[in-house]
Parts: sequence; structure tokens; C-alpha cells
Amino acid sequence: MPDDHAAPTTPALSRRAAVAGAGAAAVGIGLLAAGCSSGDSGSGSGSGGGATTGSSAAPSASAGTALGPASSVPVGSAALFADQKVIVTQPTAGTYEGFSSTCPHQGCTVSEVQGAALVCPCHGSTFGLDGQVQKGPATRGLTPQNVTVSGDRITLA
Ligand code: FES
Repeated sequence: MPDDHAAPTTPALSRRAAVAGAGAAAVGIGLLAAGCSSGDSGSGSGSGGGATTGSSAAPSASAGTALGPASSVPVGSAALFADQKVIVTQPTAGTYEGFSSTCPHQGCTVSEVQGAALVCPCHGSTFGLDGQVQKGPATRGLTPQNVTVSGDRITLA
């Protein structure tokens, strides 16, 4: 009976597949933990920066990710790119700054743009176009995210 040879190989293969799957899951958890710990350590006091934003913050989306049109960011205000969790401000014409939209207080999304104020709807923390705290309960500013503008396209740098 040729079927006797085929039958025992199937359970052996599925056992191996299960082991491989468990290994992959462990790697995934490790990556997540690494992401959390690096985000916590990014509270360096700036390096006297210029127009481009700092270098110590780990971006939540990868470099090169397109955010949207620069024309959607009003001068003297900001726009939220919700899918990428990034806020882009334009304090003066042609100067763009990017920030994580994750509130440093308890992690809500800073989703309300009221003129030059970025407001977290959870507890009312308010940030300026430079990402700094204007009103608590948050005690530190938004995490900078490097962005580049080419033509009318804003991209994570
Ligand atoms: Fe934003 Fe509390 S989570 S103010």
C-alpha cells in the first residue's frame, strides 16, 4: 500500500511548522519591546537646532513614507496626517516641522489643530507649532519627526 508511506510525513511537517511559527512570534515580540524602550530614551535636550528637527527621536513610521501635500499645511498652523500619526506644522511660510501626534501625557492622539495650537482631546494638553507644551497636563513636548518637503510632497526623512 503506497499510502502507508505518505501518511506519517504529514504530522511531522506540521509539528515543524508549529515550532517555526512560535519562533517567529518571539522575534516579533522582541522587536516591539525594542521599539518601546528606544522611544522612552529620546528626551535629549536639543542641540540648538535650526530649521530641521532633531536627531534623537525614533520615528513611528519609516523614512521615505509619504505624508501628503504640503499645501494641506496652512502657514501659521498645522495638519495632522492621521494614518502616519504625524503632525506637520508650518510656523512661517516654507518652514515645515514634523512631530509625532502621540501625546506625551498618556498617549492619546493630538488630533485638534486650532490655529497655532495643537490640542489633545483627552485631557486638553496644548502644544505650540514648535511642539513645546503650552498647557498641561503634559509636561514635555511632542516628539520631533524629521520631514522633508519636495515640491508639494511631504515625506518622512
Ligand atoms: Fe493627551 Fe492626556 S493624553 S492630555
